[in-house]
Amino acid sequence: MKLTLKIWRQKDAKSRGELVDYQMKGIEGDMSFLEMLDVLNEELINKGEEPVVFDHDCREGICGVCSLQINGEPHGPDRLITACQLHMRKFKDGDTIFIEPFRAKAFPIIKDLMIDRSAFDRIQQAGGYISVNTSGNTVDANAIPIEKEKADDAFAAATCIGCGACVAACKNASAMLFTSAKVSQYALLPQGQVEAADRVLAMVKQMDEEGFGNCTNTGACEIECPKGISLENIARMNREYLKASLKG
Ligand code: SF4
Ligand code: FES
Repeated sequence: MKLTLKIWRQKDAKSRGELVDYQMKGIEGDMSFLEMLDVLNEELINKGEEPVVFDHDCREGICGVCSLQINGEPHGPDRLITACQLHMRKFKDGDTIFIEPFRAKAFPIIKDLMIDRSAFDRIQQAGGYISVNTSGNTVDANAIPIEKEKADDAFAAATCIGCGACVAACKNASAMLFTSAKVSQYALLPQGQVEAADRVLAMVKQMDEEGFGNCTNTGACEIECPKGISLENIARMNREYLKASLKG
């Protein structure tokens, strides 16, 4: 396949960025999207030019760092996969592909396609945990019965990989889907009840402080989420938040 890539190049957070054209040939359908970028970078390095900086780690849909906006969509045209799981067979010979970083005020660009998503870490640190007494009298978590439906919902919420596609897809750059998944995975389980009120208040406060926008129920986040995190989590977080606020 021959392709034209239009890739966002930006020196650092303060510099102005621009789309730069690259002509590619010999790209095979079985290559992953990131392998295609590896080929480009090898060519650039051989020419003595700066390679394109992009984030990647697991390359199998687990770590959530491959945050690429491909032809205007977070993680590209396929559903329920990350950019690293996207294959070049999804594109046609002669295609032009726009590759940009996820864009949000709370996700500043570090360089080229790499963004700083530490805002998500700070939301998680604000309350995305449970405190367990490890004195030796700890109750085995498996000794507490949990309804199957709730266990399934908690597990589904816990599959959020913190990629940020929900933020990139949202016209308000809202982080409600991410935060609600993290709140839900504890709110659904007995172990999460002790700190439930403090957790939701602290995580929502941190989310607002990081500069993410409000949710206006468009639902683009759910469509673009590679893990299929449901909007029901946002409704659950809103209920948890109301409950916690009334409790004072
Ligand atoms: S909710 Fe989905 S899109 Fe958002 S961070 Fe989690 S996995 Fe990524
Ligand atoms: S590189 Fe880990 S999810 Fe894509």
